[in-house]
Amino acid sequence: MISVRFIALVLILAYSSHLTFSLSQIQDRRKAIQQAGVVFGASTGLIAIPTRSSVALAESVIVTNKINPIATLSDGSKFPLASFGLQVYDDNTAYKLTLTALEVGYRNFFASVLAGNQRGFAKAIKESNIPREDLYICGSVVSNRASGFDDSKSATTKGWMRNMEAFGVGGIDYLDQIMLDYPGPSCDSIRGQWSSFEEMHAQKLTKSISVSNFNLDQLDCVLKTATVKPVVNQLPYNVAYHPGSVTENSKRGLLVQAWAPLGGSTGRFDSRIKDACSLIGKQYNKSYAQVALRWIIQNGGSFTTQSKNKDHFSEDLNVFDFELTQNEMQTLNSLA
Ligand SMILES: NC(=O)c1ccc[n+]([C@@H]2O[C@H](COP(=O)([O-])OP(=O)(O)OC[C@H]3O[C@@H](n4cnc5c(N)ncnc54)[C@H](OP(=O)(O)O)[C@@H]3O)[C@@H](O)[C@H]2O)c1
Repeated sequence: MISVRFIALVLILAYSSHLTFSLSQIQDRRKAIQQAGVVFGASTGLIAIPTRSSVALAESVIVTNKINPIATLSDGSKFPLASFGLQVYDDNTAYKLTLTALEVGYRNFFASVLAGNQRGFAKAIKESNIPREDLYICGSVVSNRASGFDDSKSATTKGWMRNMEAFGVGGIDYLDQIMLDYPGPSCDSIRGQWSSFEEMHAQKLTKSISVSNFNLDQLDCVLKTATVKPVVNQLPYNVAYHPGSVTENSKRGLLVQAWAPLGGSTGRFDSRIKDACSLIGKQYNKSYAQVALRWIIQNGGSFTTQSKNKDHFSEDLNVFDFELTQNEMQTLNSLA
């Protein structure tokens, strides 16, 4: 049944954006969101779990789930390889785009504190009525301006408390993952940041803890003393720019999640990159974006991308039903 609150909220949003949704449209949308969950098997755990081994995904993964494979992280948790990373816009836009992403089939979300719209995201999650256990929700903390163990720890604790407060708007009372968005200025500071995350983990407010923009030295600093290890390192990683190493991260037990997987914040792909990807994509009936994302997956990574366009959302999820050859991978490797 559709709750009165849901209808009221949608009508207010429709009014504010000069759109008119009929009741049947609202019902259709909620149905579509629920069906997407069934298609992707999220609610039943039917999705095949790929082993994060080498270059290509196991064939069984491609056969059993063409759309949204899920990795097993080094702490045993399940992680959909494709994620929607919310960008900097207002809560209302975040609300709408999150509903679109859910409808298309996304179940993994990176709702960064830097985007400033965690409340809008959380509201959409609540209104969707999707069971919490079918979703993967990652927050983030920015505490790299503090220095020294104690100050870094306390800044990080304030950061994750703010996350919990914002997510609480949508009744989200635990996270699947939280990420340190940047490393502190020294190993001591980084250990302070990490110690705070370990406390959050001990309180069962998050299932996994992670990092972003960490180089290998910074990772080793964490790993030497960590009692709970990081499982993901979110890095700038795309066919045009990939300074980090998926393999080195993987040796340390971390899965690389690409930010700017389509160029995005690192500067959009130029025509050379787009043309090279388009040419390869033609034979598979795939767009340049799908080829660029597939290249990340076949290199052993995952990605968080963003869009304001429903067709692009869909395209970006639909990258698990074709496989690039070794030659094509080499061509793409050489573009950076
Ligand atoms: N940890 C960090 O330091 C950090 C830094 C930056 C970003 N991030 C995270 O990473 C996420 C993604 O990064 P990003 O925004 O830099 O870049 P991105 O996903 O590489 O690029 C996004 C751009 O690509 C376009 N796009 C998406 N799908 C497309 C498709 N199928 N075909 C053509 N164009 C497509 C979008 O335009 P349309 O709207 O037209 O589709 C959008 O302008 C962010 O939302 C954020 O959560 C993290």
